[in-house]
Amino acid sequence: MTENKKRLVVLTGAGISAESGFKTFRDSGGLWETYSVEDVASIQGWYRNPKLMTDFYNDLRVQLEHAQPNEGHKILSELQEYFDVRIITQNVDNLHEKAGSKYVIHLHGELTKARPVNDDDGLRAVDIGYRKMEYDERDSEGELMRPHIVWFGESVPLISEAARQVRNADIFAVIGSSLVVYPAAGLVHDLRGGTKAYLIDPKEVSVPVGLKFRVIREVASKGCAIMRDELLKEFVS
Ligand SMILES: NC(=O)c1ccc[n+]([C@@H]2O[C@H](COP(=O)([O-])OP(=O)(O)OC[C@H]3O[C@@H](n4cnc5c(N)ncnc54)[C@H](O)[C@@H]3O)[C@@H](O)[C@H]2O)c1
Repeated sequence: MTENKKRLVVLTGAGISAESGFKTFRDSGGLWETYSVEDVASIQGWYRNPKLMTDFYNDLRVQLEHAQPNEGHKILSELQEYFDVRIITQNVDNLHEKAGSKYVIHLHGELTKARPVNDDDGLRAVDIGYRKMEYDERDSEGELMRPHIVWFGESVPLISEAARQVRNADIFAVIGSSLVVYPAAGLVHDLRGGTKAYLIDPKEVSVPVGLKFRVIREVASKGCAIMRDELLKEFVS
């Protein structure tokens, strides 16, 4: 029964998975200190050196198999009992799903899927679980396969659906996102005026002028617990 529940739309970024051992990109010790964006997160990188890129995502997939959702993911899942929770994540991990969240839009793709190189919309993405991919892997039709990840410079097919969710939010939250990667960061502009909005991040994140957020300067586990207590007090009798 979702009819009577307020709709809570949550935009998550790499920060929500940090306490599960998944590195963010920009923080110190983050992935950009070890790799260049061009080498492991651009379509040009893949055509230039598919083996390096395939190995990079194979390693992340191995890491993901053993990663567990943290308190932040779990609280969002538990909130489904009281709210119609819609998660829009920039993350390619499956920790929201592992925590039990039912509605998750993966804006930037999923580590546990692969798709043919010419399938830009990801409509033919298939589950590969946690297995290693070969860099010259082909499907049964003979199509060259690639990780189902939206790389820099590529379009984000699910952005319109995500924007629709944000427009229909009764309550909105941004958790663990530096709000610098577009078009995901632009989703805050789809908020209806007056919508209650939270921002949870241990560091300062700049939000566009004119938008009001209840800022909780904490890591996701602690920040989500504070948000949960406030939401239950305000919306659930
Ligand atoms: N887990 C993943 O799937 C993963 C990991 C790294 C990067 N990415 C990709 O990289 C891109 C980077 O954009 P982004 O905005 O998601 O990440 P980002 O790296 O730009 O920003 C991460 C944000 O999380 C905050 N943060 C750090 N530790 C935190 C914690 N414990 N709790 C809450 N917040 C914390 C940081 O202060 C920062 O503002 C995304 O497009 C995403 O697809 C995904």
